[in-house]
Amino acid sequence: MKTIRWEKGLIITVDQTKLPNKLVYLKLRNPKQVAEAIKNMKIRGAPLLGAAAALALAQTAYFSKSKTKKKLLKELRKTGEMIRRTRPTAVNLFNAIDTILKKAEEYEDKPENFKDFVVRCCLEIVESDAKINHALSLKGVELIEEGDHILTHCNAGELATVEYGTALGVIRMAYRQGKKIEVFATETRPLLQGARLTAFELKREGIPFVLITDSMVGYVMQKKMVDKVIVGADRILASGHVINKIGTYSIAVLAKNHGLPFYVAAPTSTFDVEKSVEEVVIEERDPKEITEFLGKRIAPKNVKVFNPAFDVTPPDFVTGIITEKGIIRPETEEIRKILM
Ligand code: MRU
Repeated sequence: MKTIRWEKGLIITVDQTKLPNKLVYLKLRNPKQVAEAIKNMKIRGAPLLGAAAALALAQTAYFSKSKTKKKLLKELRKTGEMIRRTRPTAVNLFNAIDTILKKAEEYEDKPENFKDFVVRCCLEIVESDAKINHALSLKGVELIEEGDHILTHCNAGELATVEYGTALGVIRMAYRQGKKIEVFATETRPLLQGARLTAFELKREGIPFVLITDSMVGYVMQKKMVDKVIVGADRILASGHVINKIGTYSIAVLAKNHGLPFYVAAPTSTFDVEKSVEEVVIEERDPKEITEFLGKRIAPKNVKVFNPAFDVTPPDFVTGIITEKGIIRPETEEIRKILM
């Protein structure tokens, strides 16, 4: 299943807020609609945010009436700024915009071909995603043994990417290779990406799985029901710190306490070698995500709420990072080498 695609200026993508009950495709006609869809979690997941950002820039170029490179560049930067303001944590979104703007700025060929060139650069990012996830999964599948019980958190599947998935990509490949596995999927409070999206994907693929609440992770590990953990990432720093869905750090600490390997699967577009832990903005979302459930208030009125969407797992809790270029230790030298 392709989560997002380009059709002559239109962006067709799954509305992830409607899953698992309805598989609805949205038609996004302009970058403003893309920005809204990201803010409202209709489009989510780090690699997919990168793809959506790229397609918003593609739309800008595709529909532009600008006659000069300078004018189109101005429009592209404006769209870039709007998309950058949607969600602050997943670096793929920023990396996609930076990559496209850099290529556009460096363009020196015929002016009449500039628009097409920009659209092509944007589409390349989207098209490469599926290949990268496939390559990453091929590397990661080596870590999966017959009979493994694998715990995953949030949704790092095809719905979080253009196709195939990262952490769920590895799991998908192991299953398709015929390995007997079982997945433990955490529901992932408060927006339930695990219960709604990961469970939807696993069921569709026929992969055996058990859905648990986030607070059951310690119990299932203590009961020796889990062999390893694989999660995705929204940003991985040069220091090896992994930023991912809130709850990931707790799982990593529990995994270490129980002597279980904790793997992170992410494409190289999820690395950020510029920022330090202190500089990364952890998104804080609407308190209603916690005080309400399916639109119904579940907490008393006027309670103080803290709702960070992501947390930071230090490198000493991470056994390995699975990328499309190989599996590395969360160490600065290895990270810099793989990005060269
Ligand atoms: O808030 P979300 O749903 O965008 O968060 C998604 C995650 O945290 C995923 O684990 C991460 O983006 C990796 S997706 C391959």
